[in-house]
Amino acid sequence: MASEETQAPFSAEQFFATQPPPPTLDEDVARVRQFIKRHTEANQKIVLVTSGGTTVPLELNVVRFLDNFSAGTRGATSAEYFLKAGYAVIFMHRQFSLQPFSRHYSHSTHPFLDFLDVDEHEVPARIDVKSSERPQLLSVLSQYKQAHEGGTLHTLTFVTVNDYLWLLRALSQELYVCGRNVLFYLAAAVSDFFLPRQKMSEHKIQSGKGSLHIEMDQVPKILKPLVSEWTREGFIVSFKLETDHNLLIPKARGALARYGHQVVIGNNLHRRKFEVVFVAPAAVNSGTRPTPGQEPSEVDPKDFVETWLRIDLAKDPHKEIEEDIVAELVRRHQLWASAA
Ligand code: PMT
Repeated sequence: MASEETQAPFSAEQFFATQPPPPTLDEDVARVRQFIKRHTEANQKIVLVTSGGTTVPLELNVVRFLDNFSAGTRGATSAEYFLKAGYAVIFMHRQFSLQPFSRHYSHSTHPFLDFLDVDEHEVPARIDVKSSERPQLLSVLSQYKQAHEGGTLHTLTFVTVNDYLWLLRALSQELYVCGRNVLFYLAAAVSDFFLPRQKMSEHKIQSGKGSLHIEMDQVPKILKPLVSEWTREGFIVSFKLETDHNLLIPKARGALARYGHQVVIGNNLHRRKFEVVFVAPAAVNSGTRPTPGQEPSEVDPKDFVETWLRIDLAKDPHKEIEEDIVAELVRRHQLWASAA
């Protein structure tokens, strides 16, 4: 993937001017607009949760693609805790990744056929939920029904990094009307590289010519326009995933200094289920409103505060760290919204 010439990375504007929108964008946006209108009129807080990994197709008639690691656990689990906290949730997730509620019955960890009993002595045969499974099912089902009947969960999907960027921009522009009542929870694992449509092979890449060399372009850093243009008042939380533990804090600090948003949650790939670190400007922690028009470059990393959040899975194996992450964010968002 190395190249002799170094190309300037795409800016967000160039990206949207040259890469086509997903075909269902207008429909998706119209539905979200209704959802936002209803909950804004009810003065309800809204959270946009992004979840799962993005793909980068290598061909127009796509056979092969690059993927980003993420099962969607963080996003789906967090969405449930935001619903419990009274938020209306827009859940924007990778198609077929985990979703709130149904995640408890994932085909790989808890397949639903395993919690059913059949009595073949009865005619027709009787199918029941095993008694050991009932308490959990009852709890999940009642929360699921509450969210669906109350219309507090709106779900939409992306597959490629292109879909993701178009949707994120459109949704954040729609959410502008919410002012400080909106929280962005960007847990999706977004590719840093992509193949522009103009460089893609139309048909399946053939293997006859030996090794494959592909030069990819850098995906524009979308947090920059999100923070400074599309939603100036929203409370924005991004995630930083690292595998080298020593990079976690410097990279999280770097993102915060560069984009000037409210919180970066750092997580190590291997420790993410029981440990995360919140990195935030001290001013947001205390709910103080930043100077209007403050540019990201003016944010001084010296003023950042790190807060580690850990749970003990040996003591409480059923505890989910997302419960504590969401509780802390709800508290900080409340301070942010009331400091307006
Ligand atoms: O789903 P799970 O299996 O539970 O895993 C959860 C998780 C580990 C994927 C999640 O907790 C997480 O860390 N998500 C972010 C992973 C990631 O994409 O990190 P990053 O360093 O590539 O990006 C950091 C932030 O920048 C992200 O909020 C992303 O939205 C943003 N970004 C990324 C690329 C890009 N071009 N523009 C961006 O703005």
